[in-house]
Amino acid sequence: MNKQPIGIFDSGVGGLTVFKEIRKLFPFEDIVYFGDTARVPYGPKSPRTVVDYSIQNARFLMQCGAKIIVVACNTSSAVALPELQKKIPVPVIGVIEPGSISAISATINNRIGVIGTEGTIRSKAYADAIYKIAPDIQVFSQACPLFVSLAEEGWEDHDVTKLVIAEYLENLLTKNIDTLVLGCTHYPILKKPIGDFAGSNIKLVDSAEAVTHQLLKILPDPETEVNGQDRFYVSDNEQKFMKIASRILEKEIKNLINVKLGESWYIS
Ligand code: DGL
Repeated sequence: MNKQPIGIFDSGVGGLTVFKEIRKLFPFEDIVYFGDTARVPYGPKSPRTVVDYSIQNARFLMQCGAKIIVVACNTSSAVALPELQKKIPVPVIGVIEPGSISAISATINNRIGVIGTEGTIRSKAYADAIYKIAPDIQVFSQACPLFVSLAEEGWEDHDVTKLVIAEYLENLLTKNIDTLVLGCTHYPILKKPIGDFAGSNIKLVDSAEAVTHQLLKILPDPETEVNGQDRFYVSDNEQKFMKIASRILEKEIKNLINVKLGESWYIS
């Protein structure tokens, strides 16, 4: 059995929503997670910058022995996946394709909404992935940058969050969508208030859940008695990461290490 870890990276702490789903489905795998907390957010940055950061992150995970890399960050997946797949010598999977496939299976009226960071929405990555598989489907997109801060503040039940959700989603909901893709690591944290506003007729697609099903196809979890080990790395601000991580994972995390950016990250 291959005891090398699954590598996961994100621009910061939000990718723990993906970690959580992967850990549920793969209890026996070792997992190494890297959150680029020194350079978060990726959402407003240019594609070139996000590609550079993503390659560095993936190379760092390779140094940690990753046998496969999951790009938890939707913004990285949207703009950097082809470059990562070219440059990184292990399988690299992102969240856009799995999220799109789940949305296509969920829609009945062929009208899908996608929400994400500015970078993800600007890239049209979800729309392109959906049209490629199902050209008859109409996709309506909306960037919701403030959701990231609201999720990090833990304001799932706050009135401010309800107002911001209404502001971003009001127009999208006039498009008669029946499916809404939560195309950002942080949005599953706001699933309840988003669902309350959208109403029970709209199915929410969580890209964090969707990617684990793709991973299961590539990496069937081997039978074993030994639970997998977790290792977490961040590039800055461990305290803040710890605090938000304990809310997302509903437990304290151990094995958190701060790594410095620099040449030592590179394996070649
Ligand atoms: N992780 C990012 C994403 O899923 C959200 C936070 C950021 O902007 O870096 O797109």
